[in-house]
Amino acid sequence: MINLENEIQLLMRECGSIMTEAVRDSSMVTAKEGHANFVTTYDKAIQEKLREGLLKLKPDAVFVGEEEDIHPSIFDGLAFVVDPIDGTTNFIRDYKQSCISVALLEKGVPVLGLVYNPYLDEMFTARKGGGAFLNGERIHVSDLPLELGIVLFGTSPYYPELNKKSFDLAYDYFKNALDIRRSGSSALDLCSIASGRAEVFFELRLSPWDYAAGSLIVTEAGGKVTTAEGEPLRFDCPCSVLASNGK
Ligand code: 2AM
Ligand code: CA
Repeated sequence: MINLENEIQLLMRECGSIMTEAVRDSSMVTAKEGHANFVTTYDKAIQEKLREGLLKLKPDAVFVGEEEDIHPSIFDGLAFVVDPIDGTTNFIRDYKQSCISVALLEKGVPVLGLVYNPYLDEMFTARKGGGAFLNGERIHVSDLPLELGIVLFGTSPYYPELNKKSFDLAYDYFKNALDIRRSGSSALDLCSIASGRAEVFFELRLSPWDYAAGSLIVTEAGGKVTTAEGEPLRFDCPCSVLASNGK
């Protein structure tokens, strides 16, 4: 598993260079269904590079990329669940808050999670039962209570029916915490909880590729991740995500 993890890291670093060296022009962006929902030629190129590289490492695994249907066979054996660029809107605007997210699931449960932020050269990794790491150093969630905590949230901009509820909930947290932040990358937000940079993250609808790797990194760092209703996360369909340091 350690060798596999190292090989995946090498592949993700190569994809990170594609992100940091991207040339921005209007032809790279395509709008998807819904508000503020975009895909770029770079998302597609990185996804194909990851598909080829990861399946070479584990030919028996299923590959699920962003926007791809999650086949029920992810519950049978190994499956890679991959977000080629998490924080696509940030990427388009050169906001430098985006990452690559790769999870390996065994019978539908994440066993390996890697999130790479090429702008800061930060590689977050976790193995089920093996702890969470940032660039090879062990990381832990913070022990700050909510009133001293930073709360991160995603606005689910693609789902208008969730907008008001998202901001109402953020306002409730804002009144009870130190302050709030909104980064635009749910995978990086989960890593911020894992590394003790923030205390709570929520978003009312995300897809498995957004949180498969990050959720393992949070739990292996000693944090807690459920849906907003407190149910276990699912990896075969979209759901809400609530992560915290458990305080
Ligand atoms: P993306 O940048 O890979 O598109 C922002 O609120 C978060 O929501 C980001 O992690 C973003 O991922 C994710 N997101 C984007 N499109 C989505 C969609 N259609 N459904 C669910 N989550 C989405
Ligand atoms: Ca994403």
